[in-house]
Amino acid sequence: MSILVTGGAGYIGSHTCVELLNAGYEVVVVDNLSNSKLESLSRVKEITGKDITYYKVDILDRDGLETVFVENSIDAVIHLAGLKAVGESVQIPLHYYHNNITGTVILCEVMNKYGVKKLVFSSSATVYGIPKSVPISEDFPLGPINPYGRTKSMIEEILRDLYHSDNKWSISVLRYFNPIGAHQSGRIGEDPNGIPNNLIPYITQVAVGKLKELSVFGNDYPTRDGSGIRDYIHVVDLAKGHLKALQRILTNTGVDSYNLGTGIGYSVLEMIDAFEKASKKKVFYKVVERRPGDIASCYADPQKAKEELDWVAEKGIEEMCRDAWRWQENNPTGYEVKVLVK
Ligand code: NAD
Ligand code: UFG
Repeated sequence: MSILVTGGAGYIGSHTCVELLNAGYEVVVVDNLSNSKLESLSRVKEITGKDITYYKVDILDRDGLETVFVENSIDAVIHLAGLKAVGESVQIPLHYYHNNITGTVILCEVMNKYGVKKLVFSSSATVYGIPKSVPISEDFPLGPINPYGRTKSMIEEILRDLYHSDNKWSISVLRYFNPIGAHQSGRIGEDPNGIPNNLIPYITQVAVGKLKELSVFGNDYPTRDGSGIRDYIHVVDLAKGHLKALQRILTNTGVDSYNLGTGIGYSVLEMIDAFEKASKKKVFYKVVERRPGDIASCYADPQKAKEELDWVAEKGIEEMCRDAWRWQENNPTGYEVKVLVK
């Protein structure tokens, strides 16, 4: 069975490819490499000992996508391709709406044309915006507060409309909480461009000595230690969630959304502590103003995924930090191999 993974060279995509290949699926990847390196797929092949069919195609390129469907017998699509930087989405919203939404519409049109109606879509906990309470369950109202989040909630609406127009579609919408960590081999992981926006890549770069100190965005939130609480989930657990969702869409029709999180929240200060223990490195930090748009606390009620997908996150915070550190330590420049000139 052949699965098309859009955005497969990226952070979550590469880990998802490993799980798919290990489970015996054939994998076809489409990625324009706008936020990734092809080296990630070489390492996926190295980890699994299996091959991947790769196309450097933009999902906005209808003809390019059609070639992929003509040349491969695709059974289902896992759609991760998208732009994801919240701050950047505020600066260049049209680029985000075009890339994420138009890209998804074109992908669905091409899928429709080739009779492929099974889709797993990467959404985000950001669609909930400022939740009325925690834990957050799937029936909470959606209210994203930035353009990136709105691309995700609008795509969710489009996918629901698509299913209602044609009940042969089978769609799983996965709302990820905060993916962190890396494959235990230390060969694939998160490789952000420039200075990281997200907490864990920032912490790992402080620990490895690339960055001086972490800024903790606020210690006056109504949480147990005043810093923000999030539901961090190991990227390998998340990748396995895609396989469970795939199994469901292969055997059912419908459109359903699922929270993929652990159900447990950790604060920024607790994450610093856990990371220091895992890496045996000091993480220097200072407390600064709150970051605009941040919420105090966000964690999942993952019950629906447990009941309907038979999926639960298994890896704890120690393993997440240990694996994030192994990746950072072994690959201080990410996928970029720096050649030393004497
Ligand atoms: P990533 O940037 O590492 O991966 C996304 C991949 O999509 C990249 O390889 C990029 O080159 C590719 N891409 C982007 N636009 C494309 C286009 N038009 N055509 C072809 N390829 C394109 O990000 P990730 O963290 O692996 O995220 C994967 C998905 O999960 C994204 O849709 C993201 O919005 C979503 N998500 C991520 C997080 C997170 O914290 N990492 C949280 C929630 C949801
Ligand atoms: N934080 C700091 N210092 C930093 C970075 C982050 O204190 O340098 C804090 C934040 O204030 C927040 C927590 O660490 O309390 C986590 O922040 P991240 O930026 O790592 O993650 P977010 O929860 O803000 O957002 C992430 C992704 C979004 C996604 C969301 C839910 O960036 O795209 O998780 O999945 F939508």
